[in-house]
Amino acid sequence: MSADHLAPVYAQWALDVVGAEGVHLLTRDGRRILDLYGGHAVAALGYSHPRWLAALEQQARTLLFQSNAVPLDVRARAATRLARFAGLGLDTVFFVNSGAEANENALKLALRITGRRKVVAIEGSFHGRTAAAGAVTWGAAQKWYGFPQAPFDVEFLPRGDLEAVARVVDDGVAAVIAEPVQGVAGAVDLGQPFLAALRARCSETGALLILDEVQSGMGRTGYPFAATMHGIAPDMLTTAKALGAGFPCAALLMADHVSAHLKTDDLGTTFGGGPLACALIEAVVDIIESEGLLANVRRLAQRIRETCVIGPVVATQGAGFLTGLRTRRPAKDVQRELLERNILTGTSGDPHVVRILAPYVLDESHVDQLRDALASLPA
Ligand SMILES: Cc1ncc(COP(=O)(O)O)c(C=O)c1O
Repeated sequence: MSADHLAPVYAQWALDVVGAEGVHLLTRDGRRILDLYGGHAVAALGYSHPRWLAALEQQARTLLFQSNAVPLDVRARAATRLARFAGLGLDTVFFVNSGAEANENALKLALRITGRRKVVAIEGSFHGRTAAAGAVTWGAAQKWYGFPQAPFDVEFLPRGDLEAVARVVDDGVAAVIAEPVQGVAGAVDLGQPFLAALRARCSETGALLILDEVQSGMGRTGYPFAATMHGIAPDMLTTAKALGAGFPCAALLMADHVSAHLKTDDLGTTFGGGPLACALIEAVVDIIESEGLLANVRRLAQRIRETCVIGPVVATQGAGFLTGLRTRRPAKDVQRELLERNILTGTSGDPHVVRILAPYVLDESHVDQLRDALASLPA
């Protein structure tokens, strides 16, 4: 047992955070750290955004919780607002609690609707740690998947391999699941041609296309979803992380031809779609739209691409504020050195990529601070 009674399953950064303000973390020893990582892509509005706080307080005072058996205006408003924000013709929303749970439900639906037994995923993918989400996560069999067997057959496609798409996605495949911009892999944009080929092949074979936008969604790429950016309409889309901008929640969005198969008791959850989560989902969409944050992300991501290939950084990759800085030296060393200069970034599955998952409310001065810090590091 550890002294703090916590399961010893997370590597711990050398960071003693006692609070946060705007885009800064405050440490016990009085440092203000520019947070370009946002708690793994969650803190999309930074910290203590006044309208986020007001929505939380107002909903907590009005109605703290009721189950999905009780129809609530706030839940219907959140679903409507989210479907409109996505603008992908995915007009039915099932609210859940986490990214893995959203993927678990999407996969379950695809297997049930098609009556097929196989799912195709993409090399480098990360979809979560539960049984089905783990089964479609690249390398999971060797890492945390840990169950004696996968709940269905899985085959992985190499990224960008159009020939493999045509060969592997056949009429025995229930679903193809892909992150349009892979997160854990190191901000890897799968690209429009590959995603379009997946879309076309799924339509030809009757497989359902599931886009996992748990990390890439809700404005992170500078578009509502990466699917919007690439002009790809999936059959289902999952999202979480920035969805509540700090309030834990997730959603599965479905096209009408998917939701047409649903009947009472097919899916369920206790906490998913709770009034607090829904009030914050509504507020997050409202804040992103009314404060012009998509344009801000696009503009500042462009500034990162133009100015931050400097010091140890040799290139950038990804999209918007799901950006990877490709480093000549090991990314974990660059991450540590940036933290010594009061900038928090992340690493990824690629040992030479520093991951930027910044809050959408960043401004130019913060990008310039990153540029100056990188310039001060050994190449
Ligand atoms: C693309 C993607 N899918 C799924 C998940 C799992 O989400 P959660 O940790 O909320 O279950 C993550 C988490 O990092 C993710 O990045």
